[in-house]
Amino acid sequence: MERKPVSEMPKFYASFIAAIGVFIILCIVLYTAFSKPTAELSKTAASPVLPEATVTEAAYPDFPALTNVTEVANDAQFPYTLQYILTGSELTDALLKDDIEQFKKQYIERASNDTTNNLTVETHVTPYMNDYYSFTLHKRILQADAQISSELKHYFYDAQAQKLVTFKQLLEHDEARLATVLASVRQFVQKNAQLATLTSAPFMANNYTPKWEHFSQFTLSKHYLTLSFVTNGTPAIVDVALPVRMVHHLFAEAYRLPAAQMENVIPADYVVDHSKKRVAITFDDGPHETVTPQILDTLKKYNVKATFYVLGQRVVNNPYLARRILDEGHEIGNHTWSHPDLVKQKDEIISDEYNRTTDIIVQATGALPSSFRAPYGSINARVASLVPLKNVLWSIDTLDWKHRDPEQTLQIVNNLLHNNAIILMHDIHQPTADALDSVLASIQAAGYEMVTISELNAYLP
Ligand code: NI
Repeated sequence: MERKPVSEMPKFYASFIAAIGVFIILCIVLYTAFSKPTAELSKTAASPVLPEATVTEAAYPDFPALTNVTEVANDAQFPYTLQYILTGSELTDALLKDDIEQFKKQYIERASNDTTNNLTVETHVTPYMNDYYSFTLHKRILQADAQISSELKHYFYDAQAQKLVTFKQLLEHDEARLATVLASVRQFVQKNAQLATLTSAPFMANNYTPKWEHFSQFTLSKHYLTLSFVTNGTPAIVDVALPVRMVHHLFAEAYRLPAAQMENVIPADYVVDHSKKRVAITFDDGPHETVTPQILDTLKKYNVKATFYVLGQRVVNNPYLARRILDEGHEIGNHTWSHPDLVKQKDEIISDEYNRTTDIIVQATGALPSSFRAPYGSINARVASLVPLKNVLWSIDTLDWKHRDPEQTLQIVNNLLHNNAIILMHDIHQPTADALDSVLASIQAAGYEMVTISELNAYLP
């Protein structure tokens, strides 16, 4: 009986504290419930809603198979003018419309209530042969008449099959061809100082195995394969335009230019002897004590002259092989002393790599190297300015150093063989020596004459 009031007192306090707790929770719940919609409401009120546009559809001039769509909204604060293409293919059009929706979304997100805004999208159509079109969408967002965002999107469309073609499909999923395209990209970048930004892109790096995702944006026209690359610098997107005639042999059959169209795209100063087809065989990174002699024997058997891009440090150990190369009518080129990525070296190192190698070639053979090949094909304007000889890359990369398989070397050469090709192999791997007999037999059977780089250059523009 006496304990009851004692226990009543804490009970009373407990109830009081619980009541305060419930009150606080209620306050939080009520605050959250009322403040949240208010915040959302004010946010919605601040965000613009894009005004309705006047939509017009018409046949695209010159290409009636395509529909030209324009959306124009003459709003005072949030105007926009969009022009894009529809193909009639459901999947393709869904993608194109999705781009347009994305552009509109970006416009809303970046729009300012304090100044004038504008969004424009223009689509450029380029035909390729009879059944293909390249589409380039150019989006621009402006504020107070100044551009604050610009973006390009590229598509290549097969009107016959009614679908978009990826770069992977264009090259028939062949990584060796992708590596060859990358070599051409490097060569192009080297000749164009304004593309210096691109040399910092990861796929331009030393000994890099190309990835398809870096080649997702491209267009094809009668004259150019244009690849768009994202860089880390300025400009953020760089276009590399390769002449179609230099790369179309890498395409799947359906996308290769017919011979008649090839004639039209060859520059007037290009001397073409249609009676002869030529390729140049090149060997890098030797001379090697056991592999190079076998290669020289096989070349002799087929009476073929090749070009060897030697390393100075290997010539020191095998000067007699350097002499044998020249004695048997082949050419020697400078491939540096120790095979560094020259782009990453200081000027003094680059000059030293080049000069020591030229000196050891002269010392061993009495002859000067005829051309230069940058290790990994890695070169820029600075490196080129320090190297007095012409830099020679390749148009067919056999990837012999990677797969070390004579069968694959033969297969890659056979698949990619084209007139004026420069074929890259390495005379330091036994499987390359093992492949050579069948490679030379196959090239001769296809009607090609095999020449040195100097001879080939005499025929090139
Ligand atoms: Ni090399």
